[in-house]
Amino acid sequence: MYYPEELVEEIRMKNDIVDVISGYVRLQRRGSNHMGLCPFHNEKSPSFSVSQSKQMYYCFGCGTGGNVFTFLMKYENATFQEAVQTLAERAGVNLPEVTYSEEMKQKESRRTKLLAVNKEAAKYFYYLLRKQEGAQGLQYLRGRQLSEETIKKFGLGYASKYSDDLSRYLKHKGYPDELLQEAGLCTISEKYGIQDKFWNRVMFPIQDSNHRVIGFGGRVMGDGTPKYLNSPETPVFDKSRNLYGLNFARTSRADNMILCEGYMDVIALHQAGFGQAVASLGTAFTQGQAGLIHRYTEQVLLSYDSDGAGVKAALRAIGILREASLVGKVIHLEPYKDPDELIKNLGADEFRKRMAQAENSFFFELRILEREYDLSDPDGRTRFQMEAARKLCVFSEAVERENYIEAVAEKYRIGYEDLRRLVGSHAAKEGLAKEVIRPRSGIQKKNTPGENAEKAQRLLLTWLGEEPGLYKAVRNYITPQDFTTELCGQVARWLFEALEAGRFEPAAVISQFEDEEQQREVAALFHARLAAPAEDKKEREKAFHDILVRVKTNSYEYYSARMGSDMEALKRVIEGKKALEELKNTHISLD
Ligand code: CTP
Ligand code: MN
Repeated sequence: MYYPEELVEEIRMKNDIVDVISGYVRLQRRGSNHMGLCPFHNEKSPSFSVSQSKQMYYCFGCGTGGNVFTFLMKYENATFQEAVQTLAERAGVNLPEVTYSEEMKQKESRRTKLLAVNKEAAKYFYYLLRKQEGAQGLQYLRGRQLSEETIKKFGLGYASKYSDDLSRYLKHKGYPDELLQEAGLCTISEKYGIQDKFWNRVMFPIQDSNHRVIGFGGRVMGDGTPKYLNSPETPVFDKSRNLYGLNFARTSRADNMILCEGYMDVIALHQAGFGQAVASLGTAFTQGQAGLIHRYTEQVLLSYDSDGAGVKAALRAIGILREASLVGKVIHLEPYKDPDELIKNLGADEFRKRMAQAENSFFFELRILEREYDLSDPDGRTRFQMEAARKLCVFSEAVERENYIEAVAEKYRIGYEDLRRLVGSHAAKEGLAKEVIRPRSGIQKKNTPGENAEKAQRLLLTWLGEEPGLYKAVRNYITPQDFTTELCGQVARWLFEALEAGRFEPAAVISQFEDEEQQREVAALFHARLAAPAEDKKEREKAFHDILVRVKTNSYEYYSARMGSDMEALKRVIEGKKALEELKNTHISLD
């Protein structure tokens, strides 16, 4: 943090979160909260909640949350410093000049400069496309049936056929050689001097989710090789954490995303009305990209090329989607190679039909697998079934695995019990998952002691957030050290200190966390609903008492286990034992 904490707090308090977010999202009052459609994922009914009293937001749909700074960082894709600056200005608070460390300053200004030179280059390519020189490029794009509107929307451009045209232009504009090189726009060598990376190509600027140009793809206008050239990774261009088209797709309001392979596919799909299409950036689909998609939707329709390489890439992507808990389906494009060609030949309605018929990704995998075996031969059939059983072990959730076993048995006419046994023995042998046990009633998942401890700690914090007045009773028995999990411990230290001083600002605690994942967890904690029946006072008192006992008991056990190695632990154990006995015999009133 580079601005003093008190100043950051002052700025936060002067920017009411409901006011600020109302500038971006239409909010409606619902009880003590304001609700609206979440701007961070696609949804049709509001699950985005903003609390005025807590000065926090939280989405019950996608789990994103935080305070007014977090919101701006996320929405505007800004850094913490930028969010502070914007809100300071909004509230008329003066910021001191320098509290940046020298290193940070350089890093930040480096990024800013790289973004600036990329933007300048994109503008120049765009300009050239409309000039005499770019006529061939424009003709090429039109030949691929892109409308004026589409060309404009995606900012497509043209790189001159002279291999130092861009660098000369940018140098003339005052950008130094090293910056052009760092941005991947040109190379400098003793032999050739300065040379543009892209020349005589149509240009696809690659934008981050906030429409900032972070790199380029360039295509030859015809059959030359390489077909595409892409910018290298730079401090602003992380290929594994960006998706082509996401800047538009994230607000498309469809309940799925279409994942394809190529820039042209994304553009053709958007033009045909499928604004939820995205593509990876000339590299294989990554976990980071799956995480990015997960912010907006859980349904991914794979629309990869129908050739061998496309199928292979799709199989890889399916595994990654599954790991990220995304539901993947595969769109069939045959007899066409890719979505661009299918739409060109059969139209958008046909593509929509194919979306509706998209195949479950596990069945897609099996269908591809099946090709390797001769199912009419008993030996081939057996080996296929063994392999299918092995694959079924990827489903670690018993109910899900059972459903798949049933479906696979039916589809491939395998005895259900036989297949189940096969899966079970595979799982046992390879230790991939537990023996299949058919649950009698719903899912019976037992929490580990660690999970239970964490749950109690979280609940207690949620409760204190709801009713800070309870702190008076809590402080006699519980200390921040009783919160043994890292995140809860951090929140508790901060919250107890604030409550002790008679301040209560849950939103302030969020600025203490730099990691986005942690910020959203803290927001979730303060937005969780209490499960205890609200009306019955006796029930509530009992529930609350239980939580205190659980937190204290866990803490007692935690420190007991550490007594040998830690002097502090002994102290905690003695104190914990006393507090626990007292607590067990005390009635805690919620009045
Ligand atoms: N790609 C690449 N370098 C290449 C070929 C492909 O980076 N030499 C990347 C590009 O991002 C491209 C994607 O892989 O968009 C898919 O490649 P391909 O299917 O060959 O291209 P299309 O997108 O179908 O392009 P076009 O329709 O123009 O042939
Ligand atoms: Mn294509």
